[in-house]
Amino acid sequence: MAIVDTLRELTQRVESELKATDTSAALDALKVKVLGKKGELTALLKGMGQLAPEERPKVGAQINEVREHLTALMGDREAAIKKAEREAALKAETIDVTEPRKLPKVGAAHPITLVMDELIECFSGLGFEVMEGPEVELDHYNFELMNLPKNHPARDAQDTFYMDDNIVLRTHTSPMQARAMLTRKPPIRIICPGRVYRADELDATHSPVFHQMEGLVVDENMSMSDLRGTLEAFAKKLYGNDVSTRFRPSFFPFTEPSAEVDLTCTACHGKGCRICKDTGWVEVLGCGMVNPKVLEMCGIDSTKYSGFAFGIGLERIAMKRYGITDLRMLYEGDARLLGQIR
Ligand code: PHE
Repeated sequence: MAIVDTLRELTQRVESELKATDTSAALDALKVKVLGKKGELTALLKGMGQLAPEERPKVGAQINEVREHLTALMGDREAAIKKAEREAALKAETIDVTEPRKLPKVGAAHPITLVMDELIECFSGLGFEVMEGPEVELDHYNFELMNLPKNHPARDAQDTFYMDDNIVLRTHTSPMQARAMLTRKPPIRIICPGRVYRADELDATHSPVFHQMEGLVVDENMSMSDLRGTLEAFAKKLYGNDVSTRFRPSFFPFTEPSAEVDLTCTACHGKGCRICKDTGWVEVLGCGMVNPKVLEMCGIDSTKYSGFAFGIGLERIAMKRYGITDLRMLYEGDARLLGQIR
């Protein structure tokens, strides 16, 4: 076959092959096959030696013309393929910024902690200072200074865990009253939040470990109306102005007189429901005027000073607030419950 025909045939074949080439890799292979050192066009150039000398320049020019033509075509094709490949890559890597993301798991404070923080904030606003003390307490502070001498029948109501005869897990936060009075001078205005322990079986309303917040005010001329006013302000701050308090006479050896305080049931607004056992009230704390005997035992002149104290049960408030009907749910650490409360 004459070289001209070979060149035409080669040009046509490469042109149609190029049309079908759609990847960079295939294009590179085609380039090597046609234009490479061992490629078809190079082979034709090398074969020129067999031609008559006068034919060589003409044929050489034809081969070069074809080489330029094919090189240009391949360049165009390469640009087109690169563009298409870039577009495909961009499309594949597109990030849809409007797609909702998976939210990271975020922890939350425990309901008891939430209530504790809220009460602290509330009482801080009323001028109280937070004071903390030991959970492993001397019998002396937990009972004796609270006017509960050894063998006093009222100790039975607060049966606890004894380390030895003198060391107990505190049964209430009241020993903090003694610790405060023995280390501070009136006026004293403190709250003491913390864990307390009693030898109770765990059931829907009892737990051997629970939480209280003690409050103590010692100053000149403190009266029952100061106590009422303080607790009234606390209840309204916590639950709003339509909450009422109800004082019922009670007995604690360390306060005289003593009372238990109920708040309007927030679940039924006082109408009566399951949570308040149809009474319309929920008991949340014990309180009273500090027994002068306790003031004296703690080194405070009871002729000059008087005081009031209260002990709030935090579990009660948390259950009331979050509609939790079984105390045990607060201690199970079940994320399905805890995750709902923030
Ligand atoms: N400490 C008492 C209790 O645990 C509560 C209380 C505190 C009562 C302060 C009066 C004054 O039940």
